[in-house]
Amino acid sequence: MSTLAVYPGTFDPLTNGHVDIITRGARLFDRIVVAILVNAEKRPLFSVPERLEILRAVFKDQPSVEVDTFDGLLVDYVDRRQAQVIVRGLRAVSDFEYEFQMALMNRRLNSRIETVFMMPAEQYSYISSRLIKEVFALGGRVHGLVPDMVEARLRDKQATAG
Ligand code: PNS
Repeated sequence: MSTLAVYPGTFDPLTNGHVDIITRGARLFDRIVVAILVNAEKRPLFSVPERLEILRAVFKDQPSVEVDTFDGLLVDYVDRRQAQVIVRGLRAVSDFEYEFQMALMNRRLNSRIETVFMMPAEQYSYISSRLIKEVFALGGRVHGLVPDMVEARLRDKQATAG
């Protein structure tokens, strides 16, 4: 039986830490679906169509990586896709408590689904989408921390904002 994994998140924006986890997941599982949560934040920086476009462009040469969106309960989406695994990245101990709660709640909601945690490469262990947005907005350099396309889109947004 082939194993389908779902890697859910908001990806606002996609970082090289996410890319690292997706690449590791694609090596471990037969197929990995990157699932963007719709309606997570009322005022995201990147719209869902923009995030879809970026993720699809970054993984265009990896046929085992699919990009999709979902709404509602994650376990319902995973069940609908007949996936067996939820992948989540763990960067530091500070991530653990929230991830532990989510994994156990998801297991209670659907005990057939396993959550698998993966560690990104250490050079990405401190990166978060929130920090990328903050640093970029304040004029800091994010080169090497996000895909080039994300950096370009951040610059476009800054230019249009005036
Ligand atoms: O990138 P994020 O913001 O850390 O991702 C969080 C995400 C999307 C995995 C989580 O918010 C989620 O699964 N939301 C869907 C609603 C749901 O199932 N909530 C119960 C989780 S126990």
